[in-house]
Amino acid sequence: MALVYWYVLFNVLAFVIYGLDKSFARKDKRRVSERTLILVAVVGGAIGALAAMLIFHHKTRKPKFKLVPVFFVINVALILCFLWNNYHLTVSEQNISLGIPEEVTIVQVSDLHNQFFGINQSILLKRIEEQSPDIICVTGDIVDMNHTNYEIALDFVRGAVKIAPVYYITGNHEVFLEGEKLDSFFDSMKDLGVIFLDDTYVDMGDYILAGVAERSLVTFGAYEPFDDTKPVILLGHEPRYTDLYRYLGADLVLSGHNHGGQVIIPGKGGMVSPEFEFFPEFYGGLYDIDGMKLVLSRGLGNSVLPVRINNYPEIVTIHVN
Ligand SMILES: [Fe+2]
Repeated sequence: MALVYWYVLFNVLAFVIYGLDKSFARKDKRRVSERTLILVAVVGGAIGALAAMLIFHHKTRKPKFKLVPVFFVINVALILCFLWNNYHLTVSEQNISLGIPEEVTIVQVSDLHNQFFGINQSILLKRIEEQSPDIICVTGDIVDMNHTNYEIALDFVRGAVKIAPVYYITGNHEVFLEGEKLDSFFDSMKDLGVIFLDDTYVDMGDYILAGVAERSLVTFGAYEPFDDTKPVILLGHEPRYTDLYRYLGADLVLSGHNHGGQVIIPGKGGMVSPEFEFFPEFYGGLYDIDGMKLVLSRGLGNSVLPVRINNYPEIVTIHVN
C-alpha cells in the first residue's frame, strides 16, 4: 500500500508541477528548475509527467525531456513487477512422515496481513479449495497493524470455513492490535466456526494439533508440554522459538512471520526478517531441527516492508502421514 501511495503522490505532483511550469512560462514568471522536473519523473512520477507534457504541450521538444517516455516505461515496468511479485499466488508442497496411519492434508495460510486476493478473496479461496484440505491452519498475522480493514480478513474466513475446518493462532500483529475492535473481529471468526488454538490443543485422533499464542512465545515455560503419546503438530507464529516448540513436544511445527525474508537471493536465502536480522537462519521451506520438522510459510502479505522479490506469496500444502 505504501508503494501505491508513493506512485499516486509523485504522479499527481509531477502533473501539477509540469502544468504550473507551463503556466509560469506563459506568464514569464520564475520557472520550476528542469532538474526538479526530471527528478520527479525519475522517482515515480513519469506517468503524470508524460500526461502533463502531452496535454499542456510542454517541454516536448527539449532533448532532456525526450527521456521522460523512457522513465514512463521503466515506471510502468516497475509497477507491473511489483504487482506480480506481491500478488502472484503460489502453492508449495511438503510431505512429512510422522507415523500417522491415514494421510492428512493440511493447507497452511500465514501472514495474510489483510492482503487482497480477488473479490471476496476468491483467488486465494479457489487455490485452497483445489488442494482438497482436511484442515486449514492459519498461523497468525491474519490482519495488519497498519491497514486494519478486518472485512478483507473476514472474507477469507467466511470462504475458508466452507472448505475445511479452520484452526487459528495469533501472530504479532494481533498482539499490536489488541483491543475492542480486535475482540469483535475474533468473535466474528468464532461465530463463523474458526477454532482458536492459542495455548491449547485438540486431539485429532491420530495426532495432536496444538498452538502457541504469540504472547506466550516470550514467556518460555509458562505452561507444561502437551501429552506426547501421539505425534504433535504445533502452530507457532515465529520460527525462532524452536527451543520452546521442542519443549512442548512438537514433532512438526508450522510457522510464518519471516515473509520469506522479503527478497530471496539465490544461494543466499531470504534477505531480512521482520526484526531486521539480515539473512535469518529460517526464511521459508522445510527445516529439520534435530528431528523436529519445521515448515515455514513465506506467507501471503507484507507489513513494514511492502516489497517481495523472487518471493511470491504462498499457501503451503502439507501432506502428513
Ligand atoms: Fe507477518
